[in-house]
Amino acid sequence: MTENSGAGPGPGALGSVGLVEDARNQDLIRRREAHMGGSMLFYRDPVHIVRGEGAWLYDQDGRRYLDCYNNVASVGHCHPRVVAAICRQAGLLNTHTRYLHEGIVDYAERLAGKFPGKLDVCLFVCTGTEANELALRIARAVSGKTGAVVMENAYHGNSVLMNELSTCVSEPGSRPPHVAAVEPPNTYRGPFGPDPGAGARYASLVDGAISQLNDSGGGLAAFLCDSIFDSQGTLEAPPDYFARVYDQVRSAGGLCIADEVQAGFGRTGTWWGFEHYDVVPDIVTLGKPMGAGHPMGAVVTSREILEQFSQRNVYFNTFGGNPVSAAVGNAVLDVFEDEALLDHVRNVSPYLRAQLQQLQQRHRLIGDVRGRGLFMGIELVGDRDNKVPDRNTALAVAEQMRDHGVLVGATGRHGNVIKVRPPLPFCVDNVDFLVEKLDRVLSARAGQ
Ligand SMILES: Cc1ncc(COP(=O)(O)O)c(C=O)c1O
Repeated sequence: MTENSGAGPGPGALGSVGLVEDARNQDLIRRREAHMGGSMLFYRDPVHIVRGEGAWLYDQDGRRYLDCYNNVASVGHCHPRVVAAICRQAGLLNTHTRYLHEGIVDYAERLAGKFPGKLDVCLFVCTGTEANELALRIARAVSGKTGAVVMENAYHGNSVLMNELSTCVSEPGSRPPHVAAVEPPNTYRGPFGPDPGAGARYASLVDGAISQLNDSGGGLAAFLCDSIFDSQGTLEAPPDYFARVYDQVRSAGGLCIADEVQAGFGRTGTWWGFEHYDVVPDIVTLGKPMGAGHPMGAVVTSREILEQFSQRNVYFNTFGGNPVSAAVGNAVLDVFEDEALLDHVRNVSPYLRAQLQQLQQRHRLIGDVRGRGLFMGIELVGDRDNKVPDRNTALAVAEQMRDHGVLVGATGRHGNVIKVRPPLPFCVDNVDFLVEKLDRVLSARAGQ
């Protein structure tokens, strides 16, 4: 479950355990409840953030919080170049993609240039949900089939179709026939463990899902998978997993869609999460970090696939790829280039991993540390031998970290994985700050 659902073990559950009685900001909370319905609110004493800069967020009293949670502001909160790009273009022109515009074409060229193989056309949308929805539409049109294979406990968005494919909000048995879910390749607590043959064994589950779709789900249109497995608690799949699955999917006539809404734009130390697995998807979906806070998403695919889709389909998006969005997208890429952000992620992430692994040696509560780049999961367990997931501790740790001025989330199938996914300029000093606070919070819990 991700931050998008309040019902399960995402950090949304922090809000669902109820506000503390003396929560600050009572008036704002009341007004919010009156006119924003059940919209999710993090923390039992919710934070009132008024300003952001780099990896830091500031509340109304000027108290600062190290942001170890927000991947949208990937180049850092309120990066001056992004802010300037928005202001400049908003003062000049903002229409849509149906007039010629240099900035939009520049952006499409630059973005396409970041992809391997034949992935060279971009369709612009405004959210990750829209990107996945369009990707599925394309896959259905090209394959002539309707079904999709997804992971158990997946999150792919909030439209009708994406809600059906988001298995974190449904039980096995209650899903529509065009959805077939497989066990994610979790080498820590999955059924096949970290054995050398685990990649093949996890991949073989996809064959069963394809048969299920062929029997009663309208056949296979697509395999859709988040390359960093965020809602499964951040996984490193066996190296051969995706190559095997992609072969199986393509042999069955389906398309391979990499959901890079979480993993994309340098988060994992490569431009795209799928690059860790030496595969090239047929379709890639983008969102969150693409606009550093400005709503942007995209579907990237090959000309060949797009032409097949376009024979019988029309696609238009009023806001997607408008001149202001294109200016923002270009500014984000400028920051990546001029600040060598990808190199920065590659330099800092081994230090983050090593520090978290050292914490694991000191705290028996930490069963596993995993992830890639600046996207790490810290799995908390009742005891290491039987790996009982400790959701309550994960929720309490997230709350206590906030009291120590650090924002993290709790995620995963059992809600017991602390998620560390900060803005990418996160530096070595930030790592030390995070680890020192986490050490303190875990020590205090161990002493309870
Ligand atoms: C993997 C993944 N895909 C898609 C989405 C949906 O993106 P959006 O909320 O922008 O619609 C999310 C959002 O959390 C996500 O985590």
